Amino acid sequence: MRPALSVVSECVPLIKTGGLADVAGALPGAMAGEGWALRTLIPFYPALEDKAPRGDTVWRADDLFGGPAEVFESQVGALDLLCLDAPHLYTRAGNIYLAPDGRDWPDYAERFAALAWVGAEIALGAVPKWRPDLVHMHDWQAALLPAYLAQAGIEVPTLLTIHNIAFQGLAGPEKLGALRLAPEGFNPDGFEFYGRINMLKAGIVNASAISTVSPTYAEELLSPAYGMGLEGILQARSGDLHGILNGIDTDVWTPDADPDVATFKTPAERGPNRAALIKAFELDPEAKGPIAVVVSRLTEQKGLDLLLGALPVLLERGGQLALLGSGAAALEDGFRRIASHPRVGVRIGYDEALSHLMFAGGDAVLVPSRFEPCGLTQLYGLRYGAVPVVARTGGLADTVIHANALALRAGVATGLHVAPVTTEALARALSRLCDLYADRATWRQLQTNAMAQPVGWDASAAQYARLYTDLAG
Ligand code: ADP
Ligand code: GLC
Repeated sequence: MRPALSVVSECVPLIKTGGLADVAGALPGAMAGEGWALRTLIPFYPALEDKAPRGDTVWRADDLFGGPAEVFESQVGALDLLCLDAPHLYTRAGNIYLAPDGRDWPDYAERFAALAWVGAEIALGAVPKWRPDLVHMHDWQAALLPAYLAQAGIEVPTLLTIHNIAFQGLAGPEKLGALRLAPEGFNPDGFEFYGRINMLKAGIVNASAISTVSPTYAEELLSPAYGMGLEGILQARSGDLHGILNGIDTDVWTPDADPDVATFKTPAERGPNRAALIKAFELDPEAKGPIAVVVSRLTEQKGLDLLLGALPVLLERGGQLALLGSGAAALEDGFRRIASHPRVGVRIGYDEALSHLMFAGGDAVLVPSRFEPCGLTQLYGLRYGAVPVVARTGGLADTVIHANALALRAGVATGLHVAPVTTEALARALSRLCDLYADRATWRQLQTNAMAQPVGWDASAAQYARLYTDLAG
């Protein structure tokens, strides 16, 4: 087994705010099958205290960006962890990214620069008797790492995975010193971005290679519509940019052994979950249309404002909606308001177990995102036989086969695409969903195809392994 270091700000089953955590948690297991032993460096947030038992301390500093810090080893299930314990940075209430008032912590750049700094130290051999052949960084929180290596004049193979370019980690130039960045890098070919420090850009410029979480998003990132200002620098590195789809952990997401659902092997056996879902969301057991489910952060990215506009079409056709999510107040309020409809159920909050029931009992999963690097809920839907209705963008386009006449006839369709991503097109797709649902034979075929589609890590782990080996030699 070859050693590699994964550096990430969240990781299942320790701490999660989104799909990044699912991916970081599943990747080590997937890569072990490809001959790579990953250790995961992660901040020791309060939420880890009961989950990650303290093993040997392997690194210490008196002053890591303003206070003492250490790294200790821990083992959680199959995860081999290096926990960065720096109380002045991570021992805080609330969300791991936001202060209790919902705003960024004033020192948010330092908090994750410290993670990248320690990752670079470990890459250079700071942990006794262990040195990675490659470092895999995830998103802006880890992206300064190859800049620090470059400053030290040392070459270690690095891969930066972009999970979402909307988050770049920006800081004013007055932070150069605080972030331990050499001023020479503060120029348009380096990490400077419209007069500010851009931590993600530092990674894009300095990493040995860059990947993102689907082939379509890798292409989209090169265009102004999706690149969010970084398209130019990505174009300059397009030869080193790879699109590798996320998988899901098929041991956790497994309809025939999932403790949160009435287990099933075929679409015909989903009935008890559908009934439980109707009960949980107080939906109408007599309604004739499909139950669409949404499990999502409620943000601009996810396009759920479009659903508010398109929903009447689904409801007129006897369809129903069950939504679980939290986020922007305007969207939370919008969905709370329509929850008074007898065929709409809304749960504002975060509930892992309920989400499993929704994929197992829902007829369709809606993901009308404006952009979506990969997306995981459509994959859960496929696995559990809830037919995905997705925006034709990013990983959604790559993972769902649109049920046009040809694909239906060929027996390969697994869901519906929405294009362009507008209220009108979503309304048309929901109407089409109702037509397909009413045609029992076609519907059963769609569900069967969905459940048969491979959504695990095998193919993607093999692609990462090829890339790791190309980079590490
Ligand atoms: P993103 O990372 O952009 O939020 P993904 O689809 O990649 O989108 O991943 C979201 C992850 O978070 C999925 O595992 C999804 O099931 C989960 N999730 C999102 N919102 C909720 C919620 N309210 N309750 C439970 N799980 C949720
Ligand atoms: C990001 C993206 C999402 C992706 C996830 C994991 O949060 O928004 O599309 O699935 O990262 O890569």
